[in-house]
Amino acid sequence: MSAHGTPTPMTSSPCGPLQGEAHVPGDKSISHRALLFGAMAVGETRITGLLEGEDVLDTAKAMRAFGAEVRRDADGVWYVHGVGVGGFAEPENVIDCGNSGTGVRLIMGAMATTGISATFTGDASLNKRPMARVTDPITLFGAQAVGRSGGRLPMTIVGAGHPVPVRYEVPVPSAQVKSAVLLAGLNAPGQTVVIEKEATRDHTERMLAGFGAEITTEVTEEGRVITLTGQPELKPQTIVVPRDPSSAAFPVCAALIVPGSDVLVPNIGLNPTRAGLFTTLKEMGADLTYENLREEGGEPVADLRARFSPDLKGIEVDPARAASMIDEYPVLSVVAAFAEGETVMRGVKELRVKESDRIDAMAKGLRLNGIEVDEGEDWWIVKGRGAGNVPGGATCESHLDHRIAMSFMVMGMAAQAPVSVDDGAPIATSFPIFETLMEGLGAKLVKGGA
Ligand code: S3P
Repeated sequence: MSAHGTPTPMTSSPCGPLQGEAHVPGDKSISHRALLFGAMAVGETRITGLLEGEDVLDTAKAMRAFGAEVRRDADGVWYVHGVGVGGFAEPENVIDCGNSGTGVRLIMGAMATTGISATFTGDASLNKRPMARVTDPITLFGAQAVGRSGGRLPMTIVGAGHPVPVRYEVPVPSAQVKSAVLLAGLNAPGQTVVIEKEATRDHTERMLAGFGAEITTEVTEEGRVITLTGQPELKPQTIVVPRDPSSAAFPVCAALIVPGSDVLVPNIGLNPTRAGLFTTLKEMGADLTYENLREEGGEPVADLRARFSPDLKGIEVDPARAASMIDEYPVLSVVAAFAEGETVMRGVKELRVKESDRIDAMAKGLRLNGIEVDEGEDWWIVKGRGAGNVPGGATCESHLDHRIAMSFMVMGMAAQAPVSVDDGAPIATSFPIFETLMEGLGAKLVKGGA
């Protein structure tokens, strides 16, 4: 079933070389934060390059429901007139975050220390995902949470009218949880401290500093210790959203496995907390280069050039890198199918609580398409067959998960027979132009079956 209740089957058939430039959309993580932090600033934030995918549009709607003015002009520039830290109004209706874990978790954090209540829901995928990881820390600030069994949505959060600051060690490697705690800390007096053992994406820290908050990160024996001084006045910003490395992963990986391909993916943010996939692909022998490496808005940015790589080798992926490529394991597992030998992925338990159980969803689909996979709770091994030797030919379930759908579409481009998914509609949550962009490079995608 799709987010809209109408499944849209999609098929990808073996294609000729992929060639040209792939201009992927804006970064999803940064887009959510630009809207949310803009809504908590005093004055007008201007955003260009915002990802206009369903997830981010749901966050824009939510910010309006909490009292911020959010508008888009005809040129695609977004403006957010914020209500200030602690200034959220109580929404009149249920907040529907659709498919977005980032949206719901960050918004819950941001409203948890304001004296209002809000009820959150989502689609069938989001309503299965664990929220206790956010409600546990926000109750320490004084908020209350009542949801369905197992800490699932729909859920009502009663914000703390008189919040206290918190020191919290994040028990799972999750930028969403870290960010929810920091956002709750924004409206608490004094200093909120968040400790993470493994570094996760640091967009919240970077952007809050940009908005004028006092926030520091120290690397100690405990891990990364992030200290935020509460109740700042956030200053509106002009934000240029970089292009999303997690979306770039699809044309890059497709180019590596489709014979004769040569694709340029310009302007990709290479923040070290996000770029683990590209390091991993190079270790596998990918012909992937960074051109025009530069710095933009304090972040490393490059144009990625990916060429067909016939001699990919399976590797043991460094588990220390997991957080920096957590969204990319599904498409990596497809590349691994086209490599010689085993690709071993460990320390990836978090994959089981994404938009779907991504180890299970990919393992089932890969097996249906002729690839052997072994798996355990926090690891999986893909047994590669080498370039040109992946059978394909099956229909896989996408489980309301955009990255599962796109990964199998990439597989179909280089397999011996077409690969289908039961529902490609979720792709619109993060990469609404996926089909046109990939077809522009030479992919053969058909909606509604082969
Ligand atoms: C995100 C964090 C990650 C990632 C998600 C976006 C974010 O989730 O999978 O797509 O923007 O903070 P976790 O925090 O659950 O690891």
